[in-house]
Amino acid sequence: KKAIIAIDGHSSCGKSTVAKDLAKELGFVYIDTGAMYRTVTLFAMRNKMIVDGKIDEVALLQDLSDINISFKYQPEEKLNETFLNGESVEQQIRGLEVSNNVSAISAIGFVRKRLVELQQEMGKEGGIVMDGRDIGTVVFPDADLKLFMTASAEIRAQRRFDELTTKGEAVDFNAILENVKQRDHIDSTREESPLMQAEDAVVLDNSHINKEEQLEWIINVLKERN
Ligand code: C5P
Repeated sequence: KKAIIAIDGHSSCGKSTVAKDLAKELGFVYIDTGAMYRTVTLFAMRNKMIVDGKIDEVALLQDLSDINISFKYQPEEKLNETFLNGESVEQQIRGLEVSNNVSAISAIGFVRKRLVELQQEMGKEGGIVMDGRDIGTVVFPDADLKLFMTASAEIRAQRRFDELTTKGEAVDFNAILENVKQRDHIDSTREESPLMQAEDAVVLDNSHINKEEQLEWIINVLKERN
């Protein structure tokens, strides 16, 4: 069976960039579990199941099985496009509005249970790099390699700011920094599968190294293990 690589860590620390590069290098499939929580959040927002941060859990639970999430790799843009019931929602799930609501949605037990099942199904054959918050602790506790990534909140906010500004979004740095800190707090203190470093995870602090150096570092860890 091909390997399972689990990457967990804080918001906006470049997990997905590293995960994508690594998957490409190894010929593995990349799965972005944050996109799955974001898609459920978008669905809840569109159906008025979350208004001013208040969630109608009964309605969400009732409609949970109507949410079909899929991914399609777009080679030109080197992007894994996310679909909600057949509609591309890649742009919408990355906006600040979804970002502001996603931690509340992902703190709900039945949402996590459903998405964890889907993730385990997607990865069961191996040959995957999956990133998120609970991959090494809950989704694949027996993963072949677990990475825990982090970087300072300011550096992460700056990266997110640069990314959104490049896309032409008018954003405020302090609002982004607040969002990063707020998500760290909710993700690490929630009752259901809080963001936690697995005991056997290898820590990668990328505050001061670029993506090529990160990839090289991980490939070396893999080589040392084989
Ligand atoms: O990775 P990304 O920042 O896109 O994830 C968005 C949010 O989804 C996180 O802040 C977290 O609340 C939630 N999440 C989670 N478990 C995962 C992946 C994401 O709770 N495995």
